[in-house]
Amino acid sequence: MIITVANQKGGVGKTTTAINLAAAVANKRFKTLLIDLDPQSNSTMSYVDPRSVSRSMFDVLVSEELSFKDVIIPTAVPNLFLAPSKIALAKLESKLIGEIDGPFRLKDKIKDAADAYDYIFIDTPPTLGMITVNALVASTHVLVPIQSSYFALEGTDDLLETIEKIKARPNPNLQLLGVVITMHDKRTTLARDIHEQIGEVFGDRLFNTIITKSIRLEESPAYKESIFTFAPKSSGAMEYYSLSEEILSRV
Ligand SMILES: Nc1ncnc2c1ncn2[C@@H]1O[C@H](COP(=O)(O)OP(=O)(O)O)[C@@H](O)[C@H]1O
Ligand SMILES: [Mg+2]
Repeated sequence: MIITVANQKGGVGKTTTAINLAAAVANKRFKTLLIDLDPQSNSTMSYVDPRSVSRSMFDVLVSEELSFKDVIIPTAVPNLFLAPSKIALAKLESKLIGEIDGPFRLKDKIKDAADAYDYIFIDTPPTLGMITVNALVASTHVLVPIQSSYFALEGTDDLLETIEKIKARPNPNLQLLGVVITMHDKRTTLARDIHEQIGEVFGDRLFNTIITKSIRLEESPAYKESIFTFAPKSSGAMEYYSLSEEILSRV
């Protein structure tokens, strides 16, 4: 089960969702791998000191010899492992464009690791470029966080079109796992309208769990902890736990 968290908009909760879902699944004693494919390395920084990272996903994806196993490191969360990113990953786009196997690098490399893990989560950058395409080509599922805002649905057409194109040719197995609303503010009527609107577009693909705004979710990465140890009783912990249950029932 390889789940890419994607949305080409920045700041919609991709990283927050990837790091906490991966932890929720690892807490259920599934061996879990979190792959950070964003050059900004926010997922990596949420669990380890980036200065301790010597090799990153960039090295795996550009090198013939290096295997996934050479970059995976443990995290403080039992059963959760990390394939870290470094800023060097930003150079990957230009390196892979023009290579015949450009979109397939991750898929080819992930074979070395896939069997060793029950679940793999991939965090992606805020673009629909070569890095995100690599993630979608290598995945079984895509999970789309949508920020509860007036512009929530803007851009989702492009994302869905990209998913359809990848399903049509390089990866017919890719499935839209679902759409999750993030940073929701229950108190506003606007938020309720947005919820309704997203529901109309995505139907049963919209998860029942809604991730509400929570300062705890913002704070936990600074302490290199998932929400489940940082603030186990917070709304964020309960909501990401409930989202993980919904996901496990869908896959
Ligand atoms: N439910 C939430 N409540 C409050 N802040 C959140 C929530 N989800 C994410 N954030 C914060 O919003 C910012 C953007 O989220 P992030 O997960 O980094 O988005 P992306 O990876 O899509 O760019 C971060 O500072 C993050 O801590
Ligand atoms: Mg991010």
